[in-house]
Amino acid sequence: MTGPKPGQKTVLVTGCTPGGIGHGICLEYHRQGLHVIATARRPEVLAELAELGMSTVALDVTDAESIRKCRDEVAKINGGKLDILVNNAGRTHTHPALDVSLPDVRATFETNVFSIMAMVQAFIDQLITAKGLIINISSLSSITPYLFGSVYCASKAAVSAYSRTLRLELAPFGVRVMVSMTGTVKSNTASQGHRVLPDDSLYQKVKHIFEWRLVFSQNSDTMDTATFARKLVADSLRSESPGWLRSLIGRPDWFWYGGLARSVWFGHTFGEWIIDVSCWYRLRMPEVMKLIGEDLTQKKQK
Ligand SMILES: NC(=O)c1ccc[n+]([C@@H]2O[C@H](COP(=O)([O-])OP(=O)(O)OC[C@H]3O[C@@H](n4cnc5c(N)ncnc54)[C@H](OP(=O)(O)O)[C@@H]3O)[C@@H](O)[C@H]2O)c1
Repeated sequence: MTGPKPGQKTVLVTGCTPGGIGHGICLEYHRQGLHVIATARRPEVLAELAELGMSTVALDVTDAESIRKCRDEVAKINGGKLDILVNNAGRTHTHPALDVSLPDVRATFETNVFSIMAMVQAFIDQLITAKGLIINISSLSSITPYLFGSVYCASKAAVSAYSRTLRLELAPFGVRVMVSMTGTVKSNTASQGHRVLPDDSLYQKVKHIFEWRLVFSQNSDTMDTATFARKLVADSLRSESPGWLRSLIGRPDWFWYGGLARSVWFGHTFGEWIIDVSCWYRLRMPEVMKLIGEDLTQKKQK
């Protein structure tokens, strides 16, 4: 494994399993000449990235000891100076709010939210030394009603809200925070632990819509991973520009990209009701209302 060359910027990315967004981001930063430190909880999946010359480090973002070990190992690689930290590792969570189990909800918040807080604390010294950048991979779902995704939406909304204040608190130290309002992007997300509706779920009548929702992000104007990564990396490397000029000619604080991102940005900018109305139809709510309504009528008649 080779370390960075003198003067070469370093970037650490979490959750770099092949096929996912983190892997695509590693490849693109490498192409742009940065020294990439790719991490994964199953380090064996990083072999191909190591062959390309990247540093690879084991990291389970939900494990405090693993984060501490990773931080120390990274300091040996980069001399204690980290230019970019990409908090990408994440867990999907598609289940009706009425059917979720709280340990499962906590696991999602551990992976999607608390891990980012822990990573920021662990790497802040290295980031301050570099006057670096934190990129938190959030999601359009942080501001959209995403049928059967209440827990995932809540976790990503927490990431967006946390990042917004973090940006203020880190400004005096010269560390920037960028949030990716990620749209639909090709990845392994739909094949993460297949979820099933409980037999007694009130949503059994719309089980087919639940099944359709499990793979929605992979079938809805979905952008390919490399295209997404190219734009994210290019924007993150743009120069700093002051105030409102930032998102026009400099590095944006909010990065909107991926399938459906443009429409959600439009609704976010011109009126949240636009998002509510379009999600109602896009997520097949008329069908849900009809089928569950019929079911309730039949049950009353019995
Ligand atoms: N794809 C989309 O449409 C989309 C849309 C909006 C936001 N996002 C966000 O984008 C990020 C990347 O997701 P993806 O779509 O690329 O899905 P993915 O292919 O499933 O990648 C998720 C990555 O996170 C890793 N991970 C999960 N738990 C971890 C842990 N405890 N410690 C370390 N790594 C862990 C996974 O490792 P394993 O392989 O070992 O499980 C995998 O490398 C996530 O934050 C996701 O919420 C994705």
